[in-house]
Amino acid sequence: MTKAITEKNILHSSHKLNRATSPQREQPGRILEPAATVKHQTNHSLQDAHILNSHNRLIAEEITRELKTKIIGNNVIVLERTTSTMDTAKKLAHTCFNNGTVIFAEEQTKGRGRSDHSWSCPKYKGLLFTLLVKHNIQPDHLCLLTGTMAVSITETIRETLQLPAEIKWPNDILIGGKKVGGVLVEFEKGLKKQSIFLIGVGINVNLTEEDFPGQTRLPATSLAIENKEPINRIFLAKALLQDIDKWYSILKNDHYGYITDRWREFCVTIGEKLTLTDCGKEYTGKVIDISNNGGLMMKLENGEIKIFRGEHATIKY
Ligand code: BTN
Repeated sequence: MTKAITEKNILHSSHKLNRATSPQREQPGRILEPAATVKHQTNHSLQDAHILNSHNRLIAEEITRELKTKIIGNNVIVLERTTSTMDTAKKLAHTCFNNGTVIFAEEQTKGRGRSDHSWSCPKYKGLLFTLLVKHNIQPDHLCLLTGTMAVSITETIRETLQLPAEIKWPNDILIGGKKVGGVLVEFEKGLKKQSIFLIGVGINVNLTEEDFPGQTRLPATSLAIENKEPINRIFLAKALLQDIDKWYSILKNDHYGYITDRWREFCVTIGEKLTLTDCGKEYTGKVIDISNNGGLMMKLENGEIKIFRGEHATIKY
């Protein structure tokens, strides 16, 4: 059975469950893997999305079992509770972590979203994780990383659940105009000043109508509401990590055109008339395309064509 672990375990535990349950001695100055850290094996056929494990808990060993990925999910950690998986990932970024490590949390006490918004989700009902990748992406291609993730999430929801997920540029995942997930990318300098991206993903999976009491910035929904039945989060996590791995390798190989093509296909923002803020200034116009770098191309009211970058621009609602 998987032992409940805390963030403290990750950074200080001497237990390693990778090979069964044999505890490992702590080595000074080195951060070891926690109890529920598992490296993946290979080859698994995705099974019925609707069968739930008896407690419907995320279990690291089950997520990694026969996971077909090259990088993503090289190491999977499941935390019962943390402030934010972004905080945990930030600490891990300063250790010798495995590239492609994914930290899931069943509960976040201070989850955060883009533009200083908070992100909350009831315990055991979401997929909340941060993925750590060592990547020397060019600064003007940064938005493509958000796009790569948004494309992966949307494609996974469409292909595994046959739900009509869409992307609101740059990082919102919607179904029927309601938000079901989002992406938050942060940057950290790790050991030896290595560039590390912390890619946070939040998906509302098994939330019910009662879990959305207040007015949110965007109307919100969950996959279970749209699907009309609960979803196996482990199944979804595996499918998503595999899809992220596929798109991330396309990004790494500089095939940006494939990413932007798929992004355009899923993007509801193209063709909309909207106002956005960029570096404190407001712009109104019609969205005409996503640029090759993942920027939002708009025809402004004065006829000027301008490209906005996802790191700076926020669409007004
Ligand atoms: C957004 O839509 O604004 C982005 C939401 C990102 C939420 C996820 S949940 C896991 C990770 N930890 C956080 O605190 N935020 C991201």
